[in-house]
Amino acid sequence: MGIEQEYFGKTGDGREVAAFVLSNAGGMHVKVASYGAMIVSIEVPDRGGRMADVVLGFDALGGYLGKDNPYFGACCGRYANRIAKGRFSLDGVEYSLAQNNGPNALHGGLAGFDKKVWDAKIEGDSVRMSFASPDGEEGYPGTLKIELAYSLSEENELKLEYSATTDRKTVLNLTNHSYFNLAGGGSILDHIVQINAERYTVVDDTAIPTGELRTVDGTEMDLRQPIPIGQNISSVQGGGYDHNYCLGQSAGGEPVLAARVVEPRGGRTLECLTTEPGVQFYTGNFLENIGGKGGAVYNRQEGFCLETQHWPDSPNHPEFPTTELAPGETYAQTCIYRFGTD
Ligand code: GAL
Repeated sequence: MGIEQEYFGKTGDGREVAAFVLSNAGGMHVKVASYGAMIVSIEVPDRGGRMADVVLGFDALGGYLGKDNPYFGACCGRYANRIAKGRFSLDGVEYSLAQNNGPNALHGGLAGFDKKVWDAKIEGDSVRMSFASPDGEEGYPGTLKIELAYSLSEENELKLEYSATTDRKTVLNLTNHSYFNLAGGGSILDHIVQINAERYTVVDDTAIPTGELRTVDGTEMDLRQPIPIGQNISSVQGGGYDHNYCLGQSAGGEPVLAARVVEPRGGRTLECLTTEPGVQFYTGNFLENIGGKGGAVYNRQEGFCLETQHWPDSPNHPEFPTTELAPGETYAQTCIYRFGTD
């Protein structure tokens, strides 16, 4: 395992962004950058040893800074996913957030964690990113100190370890928003997906949970047995998966296998493990004509996300696993993206 630091560019206000390349003996390379604590590239071999970059993104920092960037590879927060009408209350105090996605708040607001330059350094075998979100930023209470450590194992596991503390009670939900394409490009509809979830959170037409947890049994939402992503997708609400699957709570805080995806031609596999109670499976339904890496143009359903997280709009659903964090508590979550071949 080795890590090299390099210069990645400067933001509009002149802040320097660093990139780090993590490599292992198997020849896997992962590039992460301090803007948005994001994953820039993941190069892994297929079953014939051919390398490809399996995440969507841009050639240079400029693309990530642009308004067309649909959160490629970024850490979303303070509250990833949606909060209904941008409102929630905590201990009787009402908080109001930017409504940046129809009537709702999405991915932490107008300048969420995906748009911040994080502090970043190499520490042992990991790249440690940290960031302090001031009290009141984007409408959220409490100064939140966050750390995200990236490490790569010799078993081709990219591990993301999150931790956070606050000085006032707040809500948080952190995720990584990588768009994967295990063929390195083209449609993802022929990728085979399996998600180990019996239920999902039913959403209204603005993607806010109604509160109902519905069984996937006998429906187009059932991904418990591996099937091509495209097999039932036309029956899915909105014409594509963009839903939170409810995972069994992990015992003893160990990450559990939430999802497995296989690209049948090259044989690359991705397994997603998490300590979180949910995973948002999003099939890139809103991608449209985005000029990406190496001249690629990304369109609808050419990338999929496995956003491990708490359930959407939890602050307005006391019956959902809580997203509250109080002073003295430490938020800790782990996500592993494990690559291989079949
Ligand atoms: C996803 C979300 C989608 C869409 C996307 C960004 O996390 O579930 O509905 O907003 O982010 O384009």
